[in-house]
Order: sequence, then C-alpha cells, then structure tokens
Amino acid sequence: LRDKYLRQIGDAADEAALEQVRLAAVGKKGEVALKMRELGKMTPEERQVAGPALNALKTEINSALAARKVALEDAALDARLREEWLDVTLPTRARRPGSIHPISQVTEEVTAIFADMGFSVAEGPQIETDWYNFDALNIPGHHPARAEMDTFYMARAEGDNRPPHVLRTHTSPVQIKAMEAQGAPLRAICPGRVYRADYDQTHTPMFNQVEGIAIDRDISMANLKWCLEEFCRAFFEVDEIELRFRASHFPFTEPSAEVDIRCSWEGGTLKLGEGDDWLEILGSGMIHPKVLAAGGIDASEWQGFAFGMGIDRIAMLKYGIPDLRAFFDSDLRWLRHYGFSA
Ligand code: PHE
Repeated sequence: LRDKYLRQIGDAADEAALEQVRLAAVGKKGEVALKMRELGKMTPEERQVAGPALNALKTEINSALAARKVALEDAALDARLREEWLDVTLPTRARRPGSIHPISQVTEEVTAIFADMGFSVAEGPQIETDWYNFDALNIPGHHPARAEMDTFYMARAEGDNRPPHVLRTHTSPVQIKAMEAQGAPLRAICPGRVYRADYDQTHTPMFNQVEGIAIDRDISMANLKWCLEEFCRAFFEVDEIELRFRASHFPFTEPSAEVDIRCSWEGGTLKLGEGDDWLEILGSGMIHPKVLAAGGIDASEWQGFAFGMGIDRIAMLKYGIPDLRAFFDSDLRWLRHYGFSA
C-alpha cells in the first residue's frame, strides 16, 4: 500500500492528478480509511500493532502529498515565467498622449492671475433667457444692440409664445447671476463659451470670453485700470505694458471704455508694449445702476466695474496663433503644435 501510493504521488504530473491520488489514499472513502474501519473487527492485540502502523502510513502519505504539491507549484510557476517572458529592453510603441487645448490653458492662466487679486470664479449656463442675456443688462426689447449681437435664438414648439431662449451672446449675464448669488461686495470672474452668428478669420460662431466684476462701496475707473494693467503684465509676461482706454458705449456700463494694448508687428511678429499699433482686447466700464438693481444690489450704496475680454483673442496674442478658426477645427496636427503637455 505504502509503496503503491508513494509511487503514484511521485508520478502525479499535475495538481489534479495529485488530488486523485489523495482521495484514493487518504480521502474519507480512501483505502487507508477503509483499513482503519477494519480495526474494529480485530482483536485488541492485532489492533495495537495495526493502529499505529496505519496512522504512521497516513502521516507519511500526507507529507509526501504536501511535498509533491510544493514541487508541482514550483514547476508551474517556472513554466509560466518562461512562457510570459518579456524583453523589457524592446523599444515601446509610440504613444500619442493628449494635450491641453490652448483655450483651456489660457482660461487657467487668467483664472490664476485674477485669483491672486481676490476674484472668485462664477459660472452660468450657455443657454439663457433673454432676461439674463439682455433685459437685466439694460438692453430692452427694441434696443439695437440685440440685432448687432447676431443672436442665435432657440426654436420654441409651435403655439408656445413665451420669449425664446438664446445662446448667450456674451458672459455678461453671469454678472447678474453672481450678484444674485453673492450680493455685494463682490469680486468674480466668469469664463465661458458664448455664441454669435459670425464667421471669418477673427470671428467664429462659438468663442470664449471672460467677464470680470468688482463691486464695493468705492470702486472707480482707477481700480479697473490698475486691475487690467496688472493682469496684462502678468498674463503677457511683459513688464512695460501700455493700455489705451477708448470711450465707447455698452448699455450695461456707464461710462464705458474699450481697451487697446500697444503693440508692434515688425517683421510679422507681434511685440507687446512697444510700437505704434493698438489691438483691442476688451470692453469695460462702470456697471450701470440699472444693472446693479437687476442683480438685487442697491446702487445708492454700491458701485462696481465690469469688463468682458475675448479669451481666444488674448490666446492668439500670447501664443502667436494667426487664425482664430483653427482653435475649433480639432486638427490633430494643430493641437499637437499649439497644445500644452499635461
Ligand atoms: N459684453 C460685452 C461684449 O461682449 C463686453 C463687456 C463686458 C463690456 C462688460 C463692458 C462690460 O462685447
């Protein structure tokens, strides 16, 4: 019996075969168990000899099984290691990692600079009611600014005569939402997508703006000027920057100014802070009392400035991107060239 099983254990080629031997030998219904049952029929003298012998046999078979099991596992591991061998010195296949889109990058930069000046970030929906996009900003129904803005109107179901929703034409509606949500005093920027039906080298139907507002008891145009100059120096990384405030008109600010940055185009390359050219980068002004009122803020106690800047526009300036439309073509070659590594 002993020799038979020890040989079978030695011969078992894998763990399944070994298990068969175990069951046949020392399993509940195995041969050793059967022999043990026979002990009952023996005389006490016979039993005194056979009992310990059977126990010893069982122990010996069990340890042979355990030893064989370890040997088989080692062999299986060796085989697997041989099979799954990798040459780690082989060159890798070229990966194509994604990159940060210049607009995302610039939005981050703008946000970080204004955060340093105490501005929080507010956001609003891209589909707006005409109250937020127009009326609350002192642009009533008949106002020519509505036509000038090349607004996209959302279709309403037939018979639904409520005023249509619009794709927001600027980030200014977020001024009102921020006032409603936070009250005064308030300092916030609102970056996001805006839409106008317009298309050429410097206009795309979807583009990006960042709105900025600061409301407090004694905010003035001087604060606006300092804030924008400070921003431009940090953003364009130029110490000497010159901004020109040109009197303008927006329904939601009074007085209003468009802001240009001094630059030169010598040899086709743009230089900021020098030269005789001016590039418009934003619209701004002191928030109109009616707009403060629409946002639930008492205009006799609070005043503020607001500006709206084209993110795509300043991204083109900073990174020398000549055509605005390329931002939104999703051309992988362009994205790899102008994108920022993550
Ligand atoms: N909303 C204006 C535009 O889109 C910009 C602007 C914002 C002007 C805030 C003044 C104050 O042209």
